[in-house]
Amino acid sequence: MELPVTRCVCMELEFADLLRLARTMGMDFDALRAWSGCCSGCGTCEPYVRLMLQTGATAFAVLSPEQAAQIMTRFGARPDEKGPPERAAP
Ligand code: FES
Repeated sequence: MELPVTRCVCMELEFADLLRLARTMGMDFDALRAWSGCCSGCGTCEPYVRLMLQTGATAFAVLSPEQAAQIMTRFGARPDEKGPPERAAP
């Protein structure tokens, strides 16, 4: 069984803390990334953070590359922004 995804590994930031910060400070994705540094390392956490801001959830099942791409498209990634890196199939 896979563990849930609950944090930005690169910056060692828990989604629960990021959500609390975003809601307290009224931050959107860009502001949250600029302030905290989340999503600015490998980028793998970006679809999770975007989904977190939309839903309020802070623990997620691992997304497939297709699911991550759908979230990036649906929740505000601009076409010129790079998405998360492709993950190798297990
Ligand atoms: S896990 Fe968040 S930038 Fe790498």
